[in-house]
Amino acid sequence: MMKFNWSTAASATSVLKCGGEADLREVRETLKEWEAPFLVLDSEVNSLWSEDLQPLIASSSGIYVMEAREVLKNTFTLSQIWDSMAAAGITRDTPVVVIGGGVVCDTGALAASTYLRGLRLILVPTTLLCMVDACLGGKTGVNLSGAKNQVGTFNPAEVVILCTAFLRTLPDREFRSGMAEVIKTALIGDRELGSMLQGHEEPGGEELLNVVTRCLAVKGRIVEEDLEDRGSRMILNMGHTVGHALESCSGFHLSHGEAVGLGMLAEAAMAVNMGGDRNLPQEIRSLLRNAGLPTETGPDIPLDELESLLTRDKKSLRSGRIWALPFGWCDCRLVCISSEEEKGILPGILRLLKV
Ligand code: GLY
Repeated sequence: MMKFNWSTAASATSVLKCGGEADLREVRETLKEWEAPFLVLDSEVNSLWSEDLQPLIASSSGIYVMEAREVLKNTFTLSQIWDSMAAAGITRDTPVVVIGGGVVCDTGALAASTYLRGLRLILVPTTLLCMVDACLGGKTGVNLSGAKNQVGTFNPAEVVILCTAFLRTLPDREFRSGMAEVIKTALIGDRELGSMLQGHEEPGGEELLNVVTRCLAVKGRIVEEDLEDRGSRMILNMGHTVGHALESCSGFHLSHGEAVGLGMLAEAAMAVNMGGDRNLPQEIRSLLRNAGLPTETGPDIPLDELESLLTRDKKSLRSGRIWALPFGWCDCRLVCISSEEEKGILPGILRLLKV
């Protein structure tokens, strides 16, 4: 097993890599260090890996099994987790182990960071998206009144345990969704990873663990600088401004990763308008294709609606909105664009997604 540490002024996270294709024995062995934890467990993972998880469940203080659905990432589920923690009689020295993808990790981590004013937290991400992004950097949260992550804390996990064996049971579409975040991370901070992705089919085995670790190295550097997302961390939102609007506008038929991939294309085209690398949109298109992700929206996405969704985005201020635009490899810039300027630029950019 290998170990990495990322620290900020306020906290540190150890990332433990278990064997790439190993079964969960190594994860269970590692978790033995935290006696009788409270578990928050993804229901799908629970049924797919029930035999492997049984010893862990048997030795836990209590368990909350959560369905990984965005609509359940809310304050009701959060209070149900608190109630289960109370019913299990856990104390301030009970560690919380959360096993699941982004929805379960964000919700479970918020419960851990608030119950009894904060308990030790261990995350075991089970989706590619969560492994390469959500598990590191301390963001916890639930949605409120239909808006994403409106209630949350910054509470980095003490330990993240990476076990890519979980990805064997991940549906293909969810795996591809994670690949969009891998491409985003490569664009932001790892040119070599981009070249590796270009030359390969889907990464697997040890190579996959290497891809995950490289992504976490990039994210770790960014998070160390700006844990609380007040400045430079915002570059991690690259592709997400157009991406989130596309996701809603498609009625969530586009997955998060599919929408972010298209968002990266649109935002790279915006950067070209401002002097960015002209070859980048084509390179992104080819990386997306290689990963089996869409490079156009298809006829069902009403671009007019998309445009108005973007202009109504709650992150817009009167002075403009901060975009994280890829000007080139490892050259993502935060640019404030006024709503007047956006109105001039967006229609042309969004039309490019229809080609
Ligand atoms: N997923 C973006 C961030 O952690 O800031």
